[in-house]
Amino acid sequence: MTELARPDVAVIGGSGFYTFLDDPQEVEVDTPYGKPSAPISVGTVEGRPVAFLPRHGAHHDFPAHRVPYRANMWALRSLGVRQVLAPCAVGGLQVEHGPGTFVVPDQLVDRTSGRHQTYFDSGACHVSFADPYCSRLRHHLLDGLAEQTPVDGGAMVVIEGPRFSTRAESKWYGAQGWAVVNMTGHPEAVLARELALCYATVALVTDHDAGVDEASAVSMDAVFEVFAAHTDTLKGVLAEVVAGLGTDRDCECSHAVDGMDLPIELP
Ligand code: ADE
Repeated sequence: MTELARPDVAVIGGSGFYTFLDDPQEVEVDTPYGKPSAPISVGTVEGRPVAFLPRHGAHHDFPAHRVPYRANMWALRSLGVRQVLAPCAVGGLQVEHGPGTFVVPDQLVDRTSGRHQTYFDSGACHVSFADPYCSRLRHHLLDGLAEQTPVDGGAMVVIEGPRFSTRAESKWYGAQGWAVVNMTGHPEAVLARELALCYATVALVTDHDAGVDEASAVSMDAVFEVFAAHTDTLKGVLAEVVAGLGTDRDCECSHAVDGMDLPIELP
């Protein structure tokens, strides 16, 4: 393998998004939390070293509730990554958020259960998570998506899965004013924060969730079909965003664990 520069940016691909880079070299990484979902591909986008990791594995080996989230984020940081763009497929909880809509959420509601959601299993280390996403990365994503007229903000509810929501659950989420629902956004975002990474997600609505109207009932086929129809657009936008990101992080994310007596050394 030729010597690769350390990537400081990563893209984590979601359902139906398994490749990103033109010139990838695969890097096998092991972590104290096991192996990531797949070897990490490192390549370039407009000359910039970039890492890519398919969240569910190269062949969708891991359903959302079994994704090795801690290993994934740790592995990325150990390669030098400090900024993470994390696209995902979501259900729309509001009538106006129909299939094909891009949403850049600014809030998250955790409805998962039983997932490992921290690296800090001892000591008094509590990161701030009031604003779960890096606002600098969010604005880069919104700019990159301008032609797609993205929704700026909104809460993403993350459910445990693997089943979809009942109509009652979905109506309840929608009635709170929450925008979209998915199964992978947590604990990915909080693990990024504990590793002092910049992290933001771009959510592609693939379906109206079950509570939006009586005709909505989610099927995985529909989710994959709509995602596939928009994958090229998404990849193009992400390539542009990645190429335009700075390397200086003037946001709070890099200071997320400053002053804490961490029980582990970050890679
Ligand atoms: N991913 C895509 N659509 C979804 C939905 N309706 N609920 C949960 N996760 C999803």
